[in-house]
Amino acid sequence: MKKMDEIVNYCKENGFMYPGSQIYGGLANAWDYGPLGIELKRNIQNIWWQKFVQESPYNVGLDAAILMNPQVWVASGHVGGFSDPLMDCKECKNRFRADHLIEDNSNENPAGWSNEKMEQYIKDNNLKCPNCGASNFSEIKEFELMFKTQQGVISNEGSDIYLRPETAQGIFVNFKNVVRTTRRKLPLGIAQVGKAFRNEITPGNFIFRTREFEQMELEFFCKPGTDMEWFEYWKKYCMDWLLKYGLTADNLVYRDHEASELSHYSAGTVDIEYQFPFGQSELWGIANRTDYDLKAHQVASKESMEYHDPLTNEKYIPYVIEPSLGLNRVLLAFICDALVHDEERGDILKIHPDLAPYKICVMPLQKQQNEQAFTIYQALAKKYMVEFEASGNIGKRYKRQDLIGTPYCVTIDFDTENDDCVTIRDRDTTEQVRVKIAELENYFLDKFNL
Ligand code: GAP
Repeated sequence: MKKMDEIVNYCKENGFMYPGSQIYGGLANAWDYGPLGIELKRNIQNIWWQKFVQESPYNVGLDAAILMNPQVWVASGHVGGFSDPLMDCKECKNRFRADHLIEDNSNENPAGWSNEKMEQYIKDNNLKCPNCGASNFSEIKEFELMFKTQQGVISNEGSDIYLRPETAQGIFVNFKNVVRTTRRKLPLGIAQVGKAFRNEITPGNFIFRTREFEQMELEFFCKPGTDMEWFEYWKKYCMDWLLKYGLTADNLVYRDHEASELSHYSAGTVDIEYQFPFGQSELWGIANRTDYDLKAHQVASKESMEYHDPLTNEKYIPYVIEPSLGLNRVLLAFICDALVHDEERGDILKIHPDLAPYKICVMPLQKQQNEQAFTIYQALAKKYMVEFEASGNIGKRYKRQDLIGTPYCVTIDFDTENDDCVTIRDRDTTEQVRVKIAELENYFLDKFNL
């Protein structure tokens, strides 16, 4: 696997990502998606939607607003509960997470400790600033992870509003709407893709952890008592999806959360972790959120969140299994896994054809073939993202398409005039076949699922 700086460079140089607001010196940890990045992102979103909504007999989709009534975040436990314990080094002015400082310098697990206990521990054990080595820290303050802004033109306390830190709450508050309007019975999953925002203290590792990111979340509502069965079902479903689209099995592991790590809502969480170039880290969190959220919203909103089972006449608040995946994070994993170096051919992005930003590149060998090639390009472009490349020698053109992961190159060559055929070259095998122009669309029919 390539090193992280090589991956970042590859993405920047080939139009996958650009540093956000670059001409103004950038904004730390903000990334814009370029022409190739946006195609890859849309493809990932589409294959996720296909598997988690279209092909699932249980699930439906939703697109809730980012801005929600602030009471949602009080009820969900995010206001007051979604924060990190931070302290400043008074010497070098760097800011740290107190719990991480303790974890990194001892065998202790400070999850669940009060701030006073952490301060005392740091003092008693003379823990030092990782930046300058001094032991002169401020007191610990809770740092709110939600972005707060004002709604409307008048800025006052009453109009505070948050950018959602997870898409999940938009699903919980619509649970009854979806059940009523779809007339679905449980088990029922509601899936959503969208932006989430967190004022992360330690963003970094390129697009792995950013303050603005996208989540692909499923909230799967089921009868209490069946939750562990469904937990296992979705664990496997998620892993199968990653493997189907080409992540190397050896780079993926399940890791159960220890009790002290669990989020406030979770009765059990397993992460699918990926071996990124910077180390093994969380890719996909699968949590048993029990009835925590629906109950909390029922209490706060005074709206019943009970489900009435028409078959058994039972009434209950459903349990929820939540597989939650970062779109940007899994995009990074797909690039890390697919970008390989070949001694002769240079770098090749051997990404699954359904994920490839461009599916096909159409190349005329001679200038006088441009018009015919362009007609072929236009016909294929009705179905696929197609690149048209008319300049440079053929070797260089293949190299460029290998580099950006285009699975097939279609060349209009010297024989085309005589036999009405084009040459199709396969990215992974470099094998070439000749196909009649009239047969081209048929040829590609079974090559892509999207
Ligand atoms: N609704 C549950 C939830 O949000 P989480 O573990 O905090 O749980 C779920 O986030 C997933 O979202 C993570 O596994 C990760 O893939 C992605 N994610 C979380 N924070 C992120 C960040 N700051 N930048 C990019 N992706 C992030």
